[in-house]
Amino acid sequence: MSGEIPDIDRAALEALQLRRLRATLERAWEHVPHHRRAFEAAGVHPRDLTVLTDLGRFPFTTKADLRANYPFGMFAVPRDQVNRIHASSGTTGKPTVVGYTADDLDAWSELMARSIRAAGGRPGDVVHVAYGYGLFTGGLGAHYGAERLGCTVVPVSGGMTPRQVQLITDFEPRIIMVTPSYFLAILDEMEAQGINPRRTSLEIGIFGAEPWTDEMRRAIEARAGIRAVDIYGLSEVMGPGVSQEAAATQDGLHVWEDHFLPEIIDPVTHEVLPDGSEGELVFTSLTKQAMPVVRYRTRDLTTLLPGTAYPAFRRMRKVTGRTDDMMIVRGVNVFPTQIEEQILAVPGLAPHYLCVLTRPGSLDELTVRVESQEHPDPTLGAALVERIKQHVGVTARVEVVEPHALTRSLGKAKRIDDQR
Ligand code: DLL
Repeated sequence: MSGEIPDIDRAALEALQLRRLRATLERAWEHVPHHRRAFEAAGVHPRDLTVLTDLGRFPFTTKADLRANYPFGMFAVPRDQVNRIHASSGTTGKPTVVGYTADDLDAWSELMARSIRAAGGRPGDVVHVAYGYGLFTGGLGAHYGAERLGCTVVPVSGGMTPRQVQLITDFEPRIIMVTPSYFLAILDEMEAQGINPRRTSLEIGIFGAEPWTDEMRRAIEARAGIRAVDIYGLSEVMGPGVSQEAAATQDGLHVWEDHFLPEIIDPVTHEVLPDGSEGELVFTSLTKQAMPVVRYRTRDLTTLLPGTAYPAFRRMRKVTGRTDDMMIVRGVNVFPTQIEEQILAVPGLAPHYLCVLTRPGSLDELTVRVESQEHPDPTLGAALVERIKQHVGVTARVEVVEPHALTRSLGKAKRIDDQR
């Protein structure tokens, strides 16, 4: 059956990883000039890999490397074997381009089917896909995975929120796949139309593409009467479906390690850290044909933990933030997710917020602009200032604004407005 979760033990999985890793390194060496140059500069050759930990001697790949080889320089197959292109825009400069062979697309569909199954999906479910369709991997990734599992896919893409609500009402999906921030906008629209979100057909939300907290999970589950699970991925490594939280345990995301080998490194010293330590997540692809990636630095911060629902596959903790989203407020490192946690702890505030960074004098200032659920009440701001000081350790200004005053994102939410 499609999307079956492999019943494999850890030793067999590691033996498979070693075989596939060797093949990936050889492929990269033979077909991608960038990788060959990088291996030579580091004084390593694919045959130097005899055990999995030898990977630590190989060089990292960064987004800058992908940009420098724009558009197709990282491909390991002739262009006519590339079946599809995706790209992620990023904030600066050229987009990052990724390519897939027919076999890559097949593996991706299978892994997304696996992810939806782990999330509690079944063949026959109606799946409402509100991730964006296009160069972004979210929409098409979810789409082909749900089809592969044997679901009825509703390819809505993002935007036109009233229509999203109408289609949910009329087509009665059991599953929605969308960014958590856009799901909040859909819930607001339901309530504005007088629909009780707890009474829709939805039972499962598969949320990802941006950091979100356990507090946000609880708030969404209570408000919508669904089970909310996390899905992670990135275009450079494949797209959504690199790791998935199991509905049964909701305790972090199982990395599909038969296709991707994760490492955690210290982002400053680049040293590989043992499981259980927090650091930057690094991935090496094990099966990709068109664009193998070797030790790709994701910039995402997390921790690797042993498997639970699927014991052979290690879990990654919910991503707390990206190194690029770290704000340094008077020397204290702050991530938007830490602010989100505190907002959700203040009754009366809505989880729609923006962190605004300014530098009025020589020091950085953080202003948190956050919506209230009803008419702004001055005590709400004071409560949030106090909580941020106590739990995050910084003094922030808080501006409580009217419900719906902040712009809604249709895809990934913008959490930081850097005005420095
Ligand atoms: O966001 C792929 C995706 C689509 C994942 C739909 C899940 C659902 P990119 O646009 O390349 O790909 O962005 C990748 O998004 O490095 C993380 O910083 C962030 N990200 C993705 N999923 C999560 C998540 C897609 N579950 C970047 N939690 C990654 C936190 C996430 N951050």
